[in-house]
Amino acid sequence: MCGIVGYIGQSQAAPILIEGLTQLEYRGYDSAGVAVITSKGPRVVRAVGRVRDLEAAMPKTLRGTTGIGHTRWATHGPATLENAHPHASEDGRILVVHNGIIDNAADLRAQLSSAGVRLTSDTDTEVIAHLVSRSTAGSLEDRVIDVLTRLTGTYAIAVVDADAPDRIVVARQGSPLILGVGEHEMFVGSDASALVRHTSSIVHLDDGEMAAITADGFRTFTMDRRETGKVPERVALDAADLEIGGHDTYLHKEIFEQPESLARMLSGRLDERFATARLDGLGIDPRELRGFKRVKAIGCGSAYYVGQMGASMIEDLARIPADAEAASEFRYRNPIIEPDTLYVAVSQSGETADTLFAVREIQRKGGRVVGLVNVVGSTIARQCDGGIYLHAGPEISVASTKVLTHMAVGFAMLALTLGRVRDLSYADGARIIAGLKSLPEQVQQVLDTDDEIAGAAASLVGAESLFFVGRVRGYPVAREGAQKLKEITYQHAEAYQTSELKHGPLALISTSMPTVAVVPNDELVDRNIGALQEISARGGRVLALTHEGVNLDGLDVQRINVPDGEVELQVVLLTVALQLLAYHVATQLGRDIDRPRNLAKSVTVE
Ligand code: F6R
Repeated sequence: MCGIVGYIGQSQAAPILIEGLTQLEYRGYDSAGVAVITSKGPRVVRAVGRVRDLEAAMPKTLRGTTGIGHTRWATHGPATLENAHPHASEDGRILVVHNGIIDNAADLRAQLSSAGVRLTSDTDTEVIAHLVSRSTAGSLEDRVIDVLTRLTGTYAIAVVDADAPDRIVVARQGSPLILGVGEHEMFVGSDASALVRHTSSIVHLDDGEMAAITADGFRTFTMDRRETGKVPERVALDAADLEIGGHDTYLHKEIFEQPESLARMLSGRLDERFATARLDGLGIDPRELRGFKRVKAIGCGSAYYVGQMGASMIEDLARIPADAEAASEFRYRNPIIEPDTLYVAVSQSGETADTLFAVREIQRKGGRVVGLVNVVGSTIARQCDGGIYLHAGPEISVASTKVLTHMAVGFAMLALTLGRVRDLSYADGARIIAGLKSLPEQVQQVLDTDDEIAGAAASLVGAESLFFVGRVRGYPVAREGAQKLKEITYQHAEAYQTSELKHGPLALISTSMPTVAVVPNDELVDRNIGALQEISARGGRVLALTHEGVNLDGLDVQRINVPDGEVELQVVLLTVALQLLAYHVATQLGRDIDRPRNLAKSVTVE
């Protein structure tokens, strides 16, 4: 959702900015741009499209050691050159990059226009450049503060002034922003992936915080000029984790690294002696855990669907009422917050605005929220009262895959922990632990059926529309399967509860509307087979995602078998198979798999 970078130091800024933007491109890829302060003044280069288009447009002579850059996911105004960042003041001396949305931009634009300023873009960001330029407050820091007090909305901004080339001023309110500290050089980025090739010494800025950075250091302060004295922390991110390796896409890499990443996630977290999980990061002692009467998962998109999977696990294993809700809805409906409910915020990026607002709303009303978050040190991770880091490593592809299975496994460990302080027996706890330990190998077995899944995918390419159906535990799997297919293939897909088909959607079944059915070997298998018969009887083609023990003899259906396992954990392997299915349909359609149209990985605006 827009990525911003900055550099000030002894090296040439342009290549460092381009490299940082390439890492941040998953945040938006409608346009990109940089501004570098050269000996002849500020120089701005922008391009519509990808960072590689910007790179192609860069003059070789762009020399300067201070600069800022931006990769855009369009919000205000279409993806045109005029709307690409950086935005400049009329005299071109003030340059700004921005991630977020300025809510009162229309008013400010009107005020600037009536004051005779010629606005050249449709963006909310441009007003910042003009306002800083017109401010009489003094230093660049003072002028930026002066302007920020007039803005409402969310932002992470970086501002440079050609007349003060020794500094970059940055500010954060509601959109992520970090600093990287090097030897006589400083970096700015929306997240650590933009900086890790240069430094592992990171400063996380908080909302309402600003920084003035020079080649020799930084100063952090609030908008009311109170020094905050932030000190750098070490990030454990390895630049090698960001390489694509021998894979054709990051999505493929991320699907295939799941056996290893899951083993890493589970390592040290399973307590076989007491048949429970070790989740110290939750910060909740067993007696307190026993006190929760309900669990509610909140997240957006795929993270919400995994929340549904997690709610089933918690009901199955801990016998506590549990449900999941889209954070984007939850936050707008004045939810009733109960002190004996454990809220679980689920997020890969840890920056999703809707999830973050929901967390804050719960906390404001006295609720307890723990996070299932992948990005260490992210805003949601820091905002929550405790949590379980997912340790999936960086996920670069815009569509989420490996982190979703980590989320499901995180829920399984939470369910086990909640169960074991209640009525889950030692034997059942041990059964789940054995199931969790088998998962990395079983995921590998799913990946080994790649060719078979590619073959099945061929039969779905070009379908007018698809149904994904599943029942109870299988329903969120179907939802996530449809989501993945829609995102990366642009084919329409709709998920339904298998049980609901005959209450309406069956009317749509035809030869051009295939159904992908989730048919696990569980207590509902006969009901699911009955539904497949109903679909087949109406001429519908069916691809069943199922287990070897499920007897589909006599039915005209194509099948993909995934390894069986503990019934509560089956969702993990079924989800991996559907990731591969979507990947192969998208490949066969020639889609841009890592950068699907209209999407951004981290949705930091409302
Ligand atoms: C789907 C996908 C999105 C995210 C959602 C939440 O492939 O990636 O639906 O799951 O935007 O993002 P996070 O998990 O970062 O909060």
